[in-house]
Amino acid sequence: MEDEGKPVWAPHPADGFQLGMIVDIGADTLSIEPLNQRGKTFLAPMSQVFPAEEDVNKHVEDNCTLMYLNEATLLNNVSVRYNKDHIYTYVANILIAVNPYYDIPKLYGPDAIKSYKGKSLGTLPPHVFAIADKAYRDMKVLKMSQSIIVSGESGAGKTENTKFVLRYLTTTYGTGQDIDERIVEANPLLEAFGNAKTVRNNNSSRFGKFVEIHFNEKNVVVGGFVSHYLLEKSRICMQSNDERNYHIFYRLCAGASEDIKKKLHLDSPDSFRYLNRGCTRYFASKDADKQIMQNRKSPEEKFGVKCLAQGHNDILTAVGFEPVTS
Ligand SMILES: Nc1ncnc2c1ncn2[C@@H]1O[C@H](COP(=O)(O)OP(=O)(O)OP(=O)(O)O)[C@@H](O)[C@H]1O
Ligand SMILES: [Mg+2]
Repeated sequence: MEDEGKPVWAPHPADGFQLGMIVDIGADTLSIEPLNQRGKTFLAPMSQVFPAEEDVNKHVEDNCTLMYLNEATLLNNVSVRYNKDHIYTYVANILIAVNPYYDIPKLYGPDAIKSYKGKSLGTLPPHVFAIADKAYRDMKVLKMSQSIIVSGESGAGKTENTKFVLRYLTTTYGTGQDIDERIVEANPLLEAFGNAKTVRNNNSSRFGKFVEIHFNEKNVVVGGFVSHYLLEKSRICMQSNDERNYHIFYRLCAGASEDIKKKLHLDSPDSFRYLNRGCTRYFASKDADKQIMQNRKSPEEKFGVKCLAQGHNDILTAVGFEPVTS
C-alpha cells in the first residue's frame, strides 16, 4: 500500500482528531495506534479516519490547497493558523474566522484597510477586508447588488466582523462625509437596545439584522439601511442568573446625569425587578468604573457566583444620553 506507514487523523473524544498510525485493517474499522501513546491501540470506524498532511505543522492560507482536504486537515490547518494569530483562512472564496478574544495588533488598522483596496482574493493574507473588497468590485463589474452572509454560533464573531466590513466599505469607498460615520456609529445604539450579556457572549445580539449599504452610480457609499427582526422580547422581563437584560438599562443606571436619573427614577440595577433576577454588574473598564457612583452599582457577588462583566463599556455609551421629551 502506497500510504502505508503514513500518519492518519483518527477521532479523539476531546480534541476532535488525533494523529495515529493504522496497525490493523478490519471490515469496517481500523485499529489505530496514537502517535503520542505508542503501544496503545483503539478501534475507529473507517469513515472517520482521514489521511493527514505530510507536515501537520505547516499551514496554508486556503484550505483548498491542502494535499488532502477533509474535516481533520481543515480543522488542523485552521488551528495551526489560529495559534499563530492568523485567525482568517479561506475555503476558496468563503472566509473562516476564529474569534481570538483579544485585539490582534494592526489587524484592522488604517494600513490594513489601505492595503486591501482593489486586491483580488488571495493576493494578500485572508482577511474580512478582502471579502468586503471582493463584494464591492463584483458590484461594480457586474452592476448587481452583492450579499455577504455572516454565520456562526453565538460568540463566533459575527457582529464584530460585520462591523469591520462596514468600517472597510465606508472608509475605502465612502464620500469622506458625515454619512460614513453615521453608518458605523449606528451600531452602538442598535447594540444598546438589541444586545445583552448571555452565558456565551457578553455582547450577544438578541435580534437578527439585514444591513444594506447603498452606493450611487459612481460606486460611492451614499447611505445604509438596517432592517431588524426577531428581537428576543422575553429577555425584557426575565433573565437567568448570569445573564443580563438589554445593555441600555444598565447604561442608563450607570451613566445618566443626575437630571435624567431623577426624571426616570433611576437607581442601581438591583432595585429593578426586571434586572435584579439576573446579573447586575456593569461592564466597565477600570477608568470608566471610577466614574460610576458607588450608589449606582450593585454588590460584587450575587447568587454566590461572581458574574463576569467585561468587554463592553456601560458608562461611555450612556454619558450624553438624552431621552426624547415632548
Ligand atoms: N476579530 C476579533 N478580534 C478581537 N475580538 C473579537 C473578534 N471577534 C470577536 N471578538 C470578541 O468576541 C466577542 C463576541 O463576538 P461577537 O459579538 O461578534 O459574536 P457573535 O457571533 O455576534 O455572537 P452572537 O450570536 O451571540 O451575537 C466580542 O464582543 C469581542 O470581544
Ligand atoms: Mg452578534
